[in-house]
Amino acid sequence: MSALSNRYTELVGIDYPIVQEGLGPFTTAKIAAAVSQAGGLGTISMPGMPEDLSQGVRTLRSHIEQCAEATDKPFAVNLPVGVDHDGRVLPFTDAYIRGVLEARDSDDALRKQLTVLTTSAGFPGDYCAMIKDAGLFHQHKVGSTRQARKAEAAGVDVVLAAGFEMGGHAPASRMHTYVLVPNITESVSVPVLLTGGARDGRGLAAALALGADGVALGTRFIVSEENEDWHPHYLQAILEATEGEDVAFNGVYGPCRGLRNEASRSLLESEASGGVDEGEKIQSMQRAQSTGDTENGLVLAGQVASSINEVIRISEFVPQMAAEAVGIIEQLAGSLRK
Ligand SMILES: Cc1cc2nc3c(=O)[nH]c(=O)nc-3n(C[C@H](O)[C@H](O)[C@H](O)COP(=O)(O)O)c2cc1C
Repeated sequence: MSALSNRYTELVGIDYPIVQEGLGPFTTAKIAAAVSQAGGLGTISMPGMPEDLSQGVRTLRSHIEQCAEATDKPFAVNLPVGVDHDGRVLPFTDAYIRGVLEARDSDDALRKQLTVLTTSAGFPGDYCAMIKDAGLFHQHKVGSTRQARKAEAAGVDVVLAAGFEMGGHAPASRMHTYVLVPNITESVSVPVLLTGGARDGRGLAAALALGADGVALGTRFIVSEENEDWHPHYLQAILEATEGEDVAFNGVYGPCRGLRNEASRSLLESEASGGVDEGEKIQSMQRAQSTGDTENGLVLAGQVASSINEVIRISEFVPQMAAEAVGIIEQLAGSLRK
């Protein structure tokens, strides 16, 4: 048992309460495998919304298989939930959820490893029961206490409390973690993970102090040696970002945070005059990540990009981050004058 085991690590069967959360629409098989192998929980991301959904499902499946080949530890899949005006789940989400369930059904070894499904954006409604019945742990990312309570009432096993400083799609409530996390931890009884702004053991110790059971990082894990699938310019843009160089614009599922560049500037201008097609936004995100054009492509990243100054090796970083958090907690406890 590690010094940082708690009800969350015991629930999902990992050593440290450190999660690499979904980074769609990009490939995260290598990062996910590295994080899981290091004792955290890695996550395979949703590979975008191609017109041919069966192609999307095949791509997702290949990323799942790639991860399963690289580690024998548990890992997760993240699927943002699209919903229509009546709250009905959209076909792309349906296809991906069923794709994950089918992959597990057809492979006994995979069923034991792919044990967590994280949903985000819209609420998955009836799919909660389907996920549960399949034997998966269901994590759901929320941006408000109301959403956290709703998720718990629907049977969700773990809530991710998402703060507005996070990279990628951020909560419409625009609540930041420092206020949101304790609001949520005192309102639900299921484990809660802080997501947004964490980058080291200090962030993990702080999350635990706020009542959370762990942290889910995005931006930090992008800038890693194991991330061989993203264009190096994307990693470089995060390394170079300083405070104030991030901005929130309208993404595909509400507000979305990325770096200030020509793409985010022109997106904000277009918003003022009617907005931009969702497909174009996804293409712009993919441009930066695949071609390395970090000026004309959107570079999704959190405010924490301002403090990321080195490329990490995930295999070393995850245990070090956990050890740092333990050290801080012990030091704080020891330094109290009673
Ligand atoms: C490039 C990028 C892509 C993301 N894509 C997704 C996604 O597909 N689904 C999702 O739930 N969250 C997504 N997120 C949010 C992350 O899962 C995570 O919650 C967030 O990055 C945490 O904040 P941090 O960036 O400050 O660590 C994305 C974040 C980034 C930076």
